[in-house]
Order: sequence, then C-alpha cells, then structure tokens
Amino acid sequence: MTDPIDPDATFCAIPPHEPPRRNFLAEAASILIGGLVGLVPIAAGIAFFFDPILRKRQTMRGQTEDGFLSVAKLSDLPKDGTPLRFSIIADKIDAWNLFKQQTVGTVYLRNVEGNVIAFNDVCPHLGCKIDYKSSNNSFFCPCHASAFKLDGAKSNPIPPRDMDALDVRVTGGEVWVKYQNFKRGVEKKEVL
Ligand code: FES
Repeated sequence: MTDPIDPDATFCAIPPHEPPRRNFLAEAASILIGGLVGLVPIAAGIAFFFDPILRKRQTMRGQTEDGFLSVAKLSDLPKDGTPLRFSIIADKIDAWNLFKQQTVGTVYLRNVEGNVIAFNDVCPHLGCKIDYKSSNNSFFCPCHASAFKLDGAKSNPIPPRDMDALDVRVTGGEVWVKYQNFKRGVEKKEVL
C-alpha cells in the first residue's frame, strides 16, 4: 500500500543530469589543455639546460667557423724569415662558462718572401717546447735534443716526424692560424 500524498509537501524541479558522454569530453579536454600548459615551462627549462650542448660548438670567441684565430699582424714578422714565437690569446668557451684571455697555445711564425708559415712549438717527440736557436738558425728541443731545420724538417733521428705545421691565412694584414695539437711520439701527424 502506498503512502498518501502529503498536500503540504513542496516539490522542487530536479534538473536533468547532463549526458555522461558530454561530461567525459569536457574533462578530457580540460586535462589535455592543463597538461599542455604545464609542459610549456618544462620544455623551456629543458631547452635552456641543453642549449649549450646542442648549440653549434664554438670553443673560442673570435674564432672563425673553420677554426682560425688571429695571432699577429703581418708587419710584426721579420721580413728575412726569422721565426718569432707568438702566444695565441682568446676567450675560451666551454658548455656553460667563458674564460677570458686564456693562452690557447704558442706558435712560431715565419714570413718567407711574403708567405707566412706557422709551426706548433710543441715537440712531436714527447711534448716539450721547441726553442729557436739564432746561433745556428734552427730549432732545437732541450728535453731530448730533437733538432729541426728552419723549414721544420727534422735534422736528427730523435723526433718521430717534422715540426707540426699549421694552416695559416693572411687577411687585411692580419695573420690567422688554425691552432691544433697533434699526437706525440708517432710518425704520422694526427690531430688530437
Ligand atoms: S720532447 Fe722534444 S726531444 Fe723529447
């Protein structure tokens, strides 16, 4: 038996529920948008962190794209071909740091009838610094007595190869050198 209807009772209209499919789509869209908005700062942070690694690596400020650094003025070189030693100074860059005014290396430069020749001054025997001896106009390494002629050719059997010549470019009266180091103690010239 059903209860009789109370005449004083008030009835309110209950809104019909939205269809469940519409609710699902709205929630999915809001999750997706929220996720995308959240990803933006994360992606930016990752890009910032890896930028120095992914960026095309320049290791020296002022270096040309093919690795040449300005070393001296052509007018600094004696016109008679006498070698002079120059330090290569540049700002070094590693992934996140800049080291200003660092000595990259030292080289001998010669002006031979207008052609500039450059040698790395590191001895190819075991890596000591090669000296220029003006007394007999040749190169000599004090560590184990390697000797080289003025053109860099070895003149005794101690060094495994000639002095390491470097690529040179003269532009607007400025001498640019592609400074590289090479493996020591081996006959073949191999870039490190
Ligand atoms: S390092 Fe130069 S002779 Fe040995």
